[in-house]
Amino acid sequence: MYLTKEEERMLNGTYGSVVARCMKLLVKLGDKFEAERMVEISSAQIAGVSYKNIGDAGLEFLEGFAEEGARVKVPAFMNPAGMPLEGWEELGYDKNFAAKQLRVIEAFRKMGVVTSSTCTPYLAGLLPRFGEHIAWSESSAVSFANSVIGARTNREGGPSALAAAITGRTPLYGLHLEENRRADFLVKVDASLKDGADFGALGYLVGKEIQKGIPYFRGILHASADQLKALGASMAAYGSIAIYHVDKITPEARFQEPKEIRDRMEVTREDIERAYEEISSDLEEVDLIAIGCPHASIDEILWVYRTLNGRRLKVEMWIFASKPVKNLAERTGLAKKLGELNVKIVEDTCPVVAPMAEMGIKKVAVNSGKAAFYLPNTNKQVVLFKSVKEIVERFAE
Ligand code: F3S
Repeated sequence: MYLTKEEERMLNGTYGSVVARCMKLLVKLGDKFEAERMVEISSAQIAGVSYKNIGDAGLEFLEGFAEEGARVKVPAFMNPAGMPLEGWEELGYDKNFAAKQLRVIEAFRKMGVVTSSTCTPYLAGLLPRFGEHIAWSESSAVSFANSVIGARTNREGGPSALAAAITGRTPLYGLHLEENRRADFLVKVDASLKDGADFGALGYLVGKEIQKGIPYFRGILHASADQLKALGASMAAYGSIAIYHVDKITPEARFQEPKEIRDRMEVTREDIERAYEEISSDLEEVDLIAIGCPHASIDEILWVYRTLNGRRLKVEMWIFASKPVKNLAERTGLAKKLGELNVKIVEDTCPVVAPMAEMGIKKVAVNSGKAAFYLPNTNKQVVLFKSVKEIVERFAE
């Protein structure tokens, strides 16, 4: 692939062995996907942060890399860690796990990565603009950036996102190219979608049906950013969909309508109800209610508070969010009021990468299609998948 003089200097070791290794990895990736050249990126979002997932091998690699002088060149955020970086003791975390997780965070800090661990960096201060090239990892963040913002990213693995952050480059292929962003699958929605969980159920149906491809939705009359976030997360979990378009709603829908339709499907209200039945177990009791997959916005936290309407929950609810969003909830007094109703806002971590099963949590109520996919598959937990409203009705005192 073609490299600029500066990129050649990076590859040849002018800027040290860490930069050279990162550039080598990116060139290899570019060659594999027949990229003609590199493109400069404005930000990175790096997966592979939870000690539960990366283990000692990952920890030692990151510490060694930081020690050798790895430093990021563009703003870079981390994916959720295995625990909140503060206050983890009160949530019952194992001390050894916490010590290792904090070493992972320290290694990223040394590299200059913003140590706010979130899958919604766009809600926490890292907002790309339309058309901007970025290198993000987490599948729901990738989907949101491509589809809702109109930024351009492939779904990076942890190492390629880190290499991109250190060099400020990524190979120009896949979803970085306009011609690869056109929809090829038509989805006609003939159902009113009431809240984020309905969008998660829709994402389940479409992801499962399409698996790979770019859906184009017609018939969705209204969708908030949070609902689109839920839709993209669910499609990325049940299929590997990294971009979608919604007629009259998402920014590229006007010029990325399907030219050649590979296939089409229609979704009715009955299909949405069937999706709930297929995904959810009918649990009368759960150990925890987990909201915020992807990480919650302040609006979603407010929605939980309004839905509770002063009622206390019998089962503890954790709302997963980024630290900046939690700070907003604390400043407005919302966090304290929710605390009185048995709701905690848990920052920096997520229901899937936290060692919840090891903490004895076996049955979980969720409002997220993505969490309903991963909790049984990776954590062997049983899930009840319902809207916030239905969860509150079932578990309020
Ligand atoms: Fe985010 Fe974890 Fe869900 S990374 S999308 S909260 S599985």
